[in-house]
Amino acid sequence: MKRVLILGATGSIGSSAIDVVRAHPGDFQIAGVVARSRVAALERIGREFNSPWFAGEDAAERAVRETDADIVLVSMVGISALAPTLAAIDRGIAVALATKEVLVAAGELVMSRATEKGVPVIPVDSEHSAMFQCMQGASPSRIGKLTLTASGGPFYAGPADLSSVTPPMALAHPRWNMGPKVSVDSATMMNKGFEVVEARWLFNVPLTSIGVVIHPESIVHSLLTFVDGSTLAQLAPPDMRVPVQYALSWPDRLPAQRAALDLPSLGALTFLEPDASRFPALALVRDTAEEGGTRMVALSAADEIAVERFLSGDIAFTEIVPLVADVVSATPPRRCDSVDDVYAADAAARSSARAWRGAKGRGGRVAAIRP
Ligand SMILES: NC(=O)c1ccc[n+]([C@@H]2O[C@H](COP(=O)([O-])OP(=O)(O)OC[C@H]3O[C@@H](n4cnc5c(N)ncnc54)[C@H](OP(=O)(O)O)[C@@H]3O)[C@@H](O)[C@H]2O)c1
Repeated sequence: MKRVLILGATGSIGSSAIDVVRAHPGDFQIAGVVARSRVAALERIGREFNSPWFAGEDAAERAVRETDADIVLVSMVGISALAPTLAAIDRGIAVALATKEVLVAAGELVMSRATEKGVPVIPVDSEHSAMFQCMQGASPSRIGKLTLTASGGPFYAGPADLSSVTPPMALAHPRWNMGPKVSVDSATMMNKGFEVVEARWLFNVPLTSIGVVIHPESIVHSLLTFVDGSTLAQLAPPDMRVPVQYALSWPDRLPAQRAALDLPSLGALTFLEPDASRFPALALVRDTAEEGGTRMVALSAADEIAVERFLSGDIAFTEIVPLVADVVSATPPRRCDSVDDVYAADAAARSSARAWRGAKGRGGRVAAIRP
């Protein structure tokens, strides 16, 4: 029986995890649930599982310290998940990590702390879960290339002009039903850039050995090519309960609650090159990741604000990437050796991103962030 603490229990990933626990009452127990604002829903979950619940902006870290869990599912949104993730690692509790921003902004810090403490960080993102599954039993030195698949999001095939994209259009992902931040990130393909960085830290591989391929059917979740030329892939229906359950049950596997793939009914599977000119976010993330440090923190923070501003109607869809790029280039490049360094770079980038006025004649662009 594993005791699971869920950070972000009312969200999309959190709900998948609750379904998994409900389906396996003999394998999992809820040690506690955490959310920020949907208190009534959180209370209902707490009552159903007879477990404590913690609400509010800073509740997650407290929950990690005050509950007895064997595994913490980190499925909040954004950098607010960094402190609770580190708290879990410091307590020696296994981490099932969905919140990619933690590794995008502070991958080196988090993974070196996890290695030092001997704590596993198990991927939840479907692509990284796929790679992790293909890696079981493999020698890391025999892995040649990692290929992340991407559905391409709602705008891969059109419209030609993305400037008139509205929030409801960006939130309507063709394959996955996800929270608003990751849905918009998928529409800009910033999300796929984040996943490249996430893979870099989770699997300790250079950025140059991680590729991206568009696969609109979202059936192959990622591929691993070994030095002998063999490629392994993981295939499953596009349902987050599959990778969430694997992360919670690893290294074991448990029965699924739904049918596995029926290959003849799928027919053909498609793989295409990503369109770099239509989705400049991919190159922006890669280039920034080469620099790392404060600029990577700034990229993640600026993206959180840009998505918020787009969803509130304040900037256009096509202004998201320019906003983020401007904030990144205004950020003095430095190493981030501590959590305080991360938070300082994060705060500076957020205020810069809030002040960004863009190209619509609404004022200047961002001022340089002071060293
Ligand atoms: N959804 C997916 O399919 C998917 C796939 C791969 C990776 N991910 C990653 O998983 C993370 C979660 O995504 P999601 O789609 O599940 O998001 P979501 O539906 O927006 O849910 C976010 C959850 O986090 C809670 N939360 C937000 N800030 C918090 C804070 N400061 N303290 C405690 N709880 C907080 C929210 O509580 P309230 O509801 O009370 O606001 C909610 O329960 C993201 O980083 C995303 O990139 C998601």
